[in-house]
Amino acid sequence: MPAHDVLIIGAGLAGQRAALAAAQAGASVAIMSKVHPVRSHSVAAAGGINAAIAIDDDWTEHAYDTVKGSDFLGDQDAIEIMCSEAPGEAMHLEHIGVTFHRNEKGELDLRAFGGASKKRTAYVADITGQAILHVLYEQLMRHHLTVERFEEWFATSLILDDAGHCAGAVARDIRTGTMEIFDAKSVILANGGNGQCYKPTTNALICTGDGIAQAYRIGCPIMDMEMVQYHPTTLAENGFLITEGARGEGAHLLNSEGKRFMEKYAPNKMELASRDIVSRAEQTEINEGRGVGPGGQGIFLDITVVPKKRVLEALREIVNIGRDFAGTDITRDPIMIRPGQHYIMGGVKTDVDGQTPIPGLYAAGEVACVSVHGGNRLGANSLLDTLIFGRRSGEHAAQRGGELAMPHAPVSRLREDTDMIAAILDRPHDGRRISEIKAELGTTMNEYAAVYRDEDGLATAHDVVHRLKEEAASAYVDDRGTVFNQDVLGALELGYMLDCAEMTIVSAIDRKESRGAQYRLDYPERLDEEWLKHINVTRNGDGEPGLSYSDVTITKWQPEVRKY
Ligand code: FUM
Repeated sequence: MPAHDVLIIGAGLAGQRAALAAAQAGASVAIMSKVHPVRSHSVAAAGGINAAIAIDDDWTEHAYDTVKGSDFLGDQDAIEIMCSEAPGEAMHLEHIGVTFHRNEKGELDLRAFGGASKKRTAYVADITGQAILHVLYEQLMRHHLTVERFEEWFATSLILDDAGHCAGAVARDIRTGTMEIFDAKSVILANGGNGQCYKPTTNALICTGDGIAQAYRIGCPIMDMEMVQYHPTTLAENGFLITEGARGEGAHLLNSEGKRFMEKYAPNKMELASRDIVSRAEQTEINEGRGVGPGGQGIFLDITVVPKKRVLEALREIVNIGRDFAGTDITRDPIMIRPGQHYIMGGVKTDVDGQTPIPGLYAAGEVACVSVHGGNRLGANSLLDTLIFGRRSGEHAAQRGGELAMPHAPVSRLREDTDMIAAILDRPHDGRRISEIKAELGTTMNEYAAVYRDEDGLATAHDVVHRLKEEAASAYVDDRGTVFNQDVLGALELGYMLDCAEMTIVSAIDRKESRGAQYRLDYPERLDEEWLKHINVTRNGDGEPGLSYSDVTITKWQPEVRKY
């Protein structure tokens, strides 16, 4: 039975950074991922990573921009840590081999990004996540004596010991179907968000909220789940990400009248206002009949205003995406985009060292809510979040492990999960298909829990999710085998997504104001007196979501009217 000081579930940037930090602090580490690590969703991060490294910049300005971007819901102690540690982390990446773009003088180049008062986004063309992920993976392999990799293993549940401490996980080897207990003194969840609750989404198929739901099921509070980010530029046809780097390089957003409509909504920052504001502006243009394309459901992103040479060197991935998935040469013609689900600001509640309220359980990256993003994340702050809080979690968990004896979970825990999977395989072929339920969930969330929300729509979504939960309990799987049975894992993932969607809906119903990504048509104002607080969802005794509140930490910046 594998036993390690630190078990990390998820091998994207947060997980790999945590593994390196824990190994460097002397811990024995297992890092487990349901896909090969370089296929983690971090690979899709395009535009860059924020760090105040320019001569005329300062981390306090980065922190202020982040607080304002969060619509004052972000916890300022955590934001200060993230922004003050950013330059050191960026330099560390450079030193271990990330080939950040350099300018003609040979200095690190920085591009503009939304909601930022300065150019502070370091980048590798528009494949920044991929570049960092591969370098970290090389580093992990250097630590092969202390970091054991479990690639294509699926964690089925977290283990609590008699004292209520997290003491490992049960997991299934996807290649063979073998189940195993992984004992661990600490577990770090680093398995990403739950974007697949939405259809379309920029998120990979693996982003099914496994970590959020598994933490919820063992009693951990989940925070800020109503805050779901719609990215302003996703491909109209299929929701693929068209990087904000395009607007950072100067691209314009145009409505059907050919107007740069952002002058009406954010006259100072225009296309580089924060994402919540740009996405809402686009949706308003569409709703008021000034959209483009079939049914007026799109907006034009005009990249032709950026010099072609620059597009080919700095935005080459979206040149490919435009050509292959929209039949558009973005160096010659505007491309049709629309707001699309991109990121979950909420997640497993943690402190600044990644600790959750359950001893021994940590979380970092999109699965976690520190909360550095509050109501709205700034572009290029998520790579930063994964690395800073991944590292801090790894260091803290390694240190904690030194003080503890290795736990040993009873074999009955293995039997429970083995029986649960066997029961899914045994379901009769008379329920709905998992893919059908998932598609209905995605379109429902995209209709009612999107850029604009109201009580009736959210209530409808709530009813649908309740029904889908019942249907999911009898949904059947075709594949009854053991080798690469993705079908049965899909049944588990569907359960996680439904839990996450329910948390988003109940939190969005509860928050009777508009802040950041939560815009309630029936409560259009931000109401600090009542709602400057986090909503936490905890599973109650009946398995239903119960709500409570926690304070927003304010250090330097009092809430103010937010304008761009
Ligand atoms: O548009 C983008 O490149 C996305 C970046 C991010 O979400 O941070």
